[in-house]
Amino acid sequence: MSKQLNLRAFEEFDIEKLHSWFNDTETLSMIGRTPMTYEETKQHVSKLRNEKTIIMCIENQEKQIGWTHLSNISHEHGRAEIGVLLAPEYRGKGYGEIAMESMIELGFNQLRLNKIFLTTRGINERAIALYKKIGFKVEGNLREHCFINGKYYDTIFMGLLFNEWKK
Ligand SMILES: CC(C)(COP(=O)(O)OP(=O)(O)OC[C@H]1O[C@@H](n2cnc3c(N)ncnc32)[C@H](O)[C@@H]1OP(=O)(O)O)[C@@H](O)C(=O)NCCC(=O)NCCS
Repeated sequence: MSKQLNLRAFEEFDIEKLHSWFNDTETLSMIGRTPMTYEETKQHVSKLRNEKTIIMCIENQEKQIGWTHLSNISHEHGRAEIGVLLAPEYRGKGYGEIAMESMIELGFNQLRLNKIFLTTRGINERAIALYKKIGFKVEGNLREHCFINGKYYDTIFMGLLFNEWKK
């Protein structure tokens, strides 16, 4: 598999793939959703678009392998929240880092953001390792904020400032 990734605008025809990624077992516990119908997935995308979220489809050799977005954009404060989700068969291979770096580049070098932040669940060790590797710092710990498969876990708030990026 080539490590070349491309970010392009997320299109209506990508929703079918997103629907299957959302309903993957790992995604359900890591992102914390209950299973979603195709119609609910469409409504979710449309809600994000109405909130001016920037949504990108991650492509590898023209195949859709995930999505990434910048939501809750505040131009006044120069910040946005990043999200990322890869197709199950593309996880664990380093694609998450490449895709996030491209989206962060867009946030800092095109949208002129000063800060990109995210929240993740304490159980999501792979995501936390990835975010730390990119340079995100833990800014807060929301205790027992989520309930997954019968147990409570903390939610972790992380942030990356423009002047810390790539240092
Ligand atoms: C989270 C996600 C984006 C990570 O991307 P990825 O390409 O699969 O990540 P990688 O496999 O390259 O792992 C990133 C790092 O975590 C490390 N890692 C993997 N599993 C780990 C674990 N259980 N504990 C600690 N570190 C772990 C890897 O070794 C790697 O570090 P390295 O590059 O220094 O070796 C992707 O797996 C995904 O989409 N998961 C499902 C959805 C999700 O959880 N989204 C995030 C919600 S906040």
